[in-house]
Amino acid sequence: MEIPWWRDAVVYEIYVRSFADASGDGVGDLAGIRERLPYLRRLGVDAIWLTPFYPSPMADGGYDVADYRGVDPMFGSLADFDALVASAHELGLRVIVDIVPNHSSSEHPWFQEALRGAGRDRYIFRDEPNNWQSTFGGSAWTQVADGQYYLHLFAPAQPDFNWRNREVHEMFLDVLRFWLDRGVDGFRIDVAMGLYKAEGLPDVDGQAFGTVSPMWGRPEVHGVYREWRRLLDSYPGERMAVGEVWTDDHEDLARYVRPDELHQSFNFAWLQAPWSAEAFRKVIGDTLAAVPHATWVLSNHDVVRHRTRYETSEPGTGLARARAALLAMLALPGSAYLYQGEELGLPEVTDLPDAARQDPVFFQSKGEQPGRDGCRVPIPWTVDPPSHGFSPGGVEPWLPQPASFAELSVEKQEGVADSTLEFYRRALALRRELVGEIPYTLEWLDSPEGALFFIRGSLICAINCGTAPVRLPEHDEVLLPSGPLRRDLLPPDTAVWLRRRS
Ligand code: NOJ
Repeated sequence: MEIPWWRDAVVYEIYVRSFADASGDGVGDLAGIRERLPYLRRLGVDAIWLTPFYPSPMADGGYDVADYRGVDPMFGSLADFDALVASAHELGLRVIVDIVPNHSSSEHPWFQEALRGAGRDRYIFRDEPNNWQSTFGGSAWTQVADGQYYLHLFAPAQPDFNWRNREVHEMFLDVLRFWLDRGVDGFRIDVAMGLYKAEGLPDVDGQAFGTVSPMWGRPEVHGVYREWRRLLDSYPGERMAVGEVWTDDHEDLARYVRPDELHQSFNFAWLQAPWSAEAFRKVIGDTLAAVPHATWVLSNHDVVRHRTRYETSEPGTGLARARAALLAMLALPGSAYLYQGEELGLPEVTDLPDAARQDPVFFQSKGEQPGRDGCRVPIPWTVDPPSHGFSPGGVEPWLPQPASFAELSVEKQEGVADSTLEFYRRALALRRELVGEIPYTLEWLDSPEGALFFIRGSLICAINCGTAPVRLPEHDEVLLPSGPLRRDLLPPDTAVWLRRRS
């Protein structure tokens, strides 16, 4: 059987608000992305995933959708979307869009109608709340004027749909058709383990995000994905779906990617693993045993950037480890998801002023949690202030960039041999050459304490998470190291790709 395009694809996540601003209002937009497609082609990715760009009051960065079939004027128009898809396809890039089926915006016409008392069965209204807490903090229930409460597992501006109402299914099937007809290649499904809640909405013990519970991972949700899969398969061109499934159980994860359900699911166990060869070995082994088509991701718009996660008190560790982890990730069987800016080695911005923050997590936790704005700071394209080439002219971007972004800008790294950008380009180009030659399977090689060695056909990947240099495994050629090697020694916080001719 032909290998489907998504099996080994490298997908680049674009956080639309923060990638590139063509209109000059300080907010990223679809036309800005279109202008930068050649950069992504040159980077060597296969597809882009666009975070929500639909009309939205932006209570949760667009994950509060008021109209599932449009483009927010802040991001452009449907014509801009069509032009973006056409240009991406001309360059050989696939396009994945985000679908948010667990909840809508409170500004969605259905919820507005529900507030007026009609069609409440499309959402979850009750006379009395249960003890559920919102993922963002505080009660998951908000009272409306006539005394009833509605459920929102995220912000109050994100009421949860009632998936036991068939009208909700029909609406989303129409939405999928709408975007499929416009030529999208796939969907990223937001909170894919959500949608259904246990009958009777029983109380839970504590916060249960990411574990199968009355709030998450209900078995009925698989019926939805079976129906969506049939729809995707009825279109030509290998349309796909990837689920955002937060679960701590690999067997649960595997249920979402059965042959008649989603094609892929994110693998957050890999992203959550600490810097440890043992932890990496376990996640890789468990994943490959559990799912037919693996995916790997180190960063996204919801988590602290991996450069910063891996940082220790020793300066430079974070970037060295981030580069090493990238090589390990790109050597694994399956598809890899990159998050915009990681190719520049961007760190989390930890010192944003409170007045600039926008994430509901910050507000709902009453400032106890900084929230996710620190990984959403606009991309620095050039060295020039005030926006480092993100916006044209002298416009300030919607979140302030630190001065240190100038040194990390595309302009500063382009053509500089050991820059992170050129390292990503080399790794992606090599992967493209190798992927057709090497088997999907992976074998472990004996590795010294603190290190992890594995082989796929002629490709060996070695990563050293320990504190002492280790001897490289037997090889014929060094293909690409993530940092300087010391002759035949692999220093700590370094990975390398080697070729072995059998
Ligand atoms: C996951 C999205 O990635 C995140 O940004 C959002 O806040 C929640 N889902 C709720 O939609």
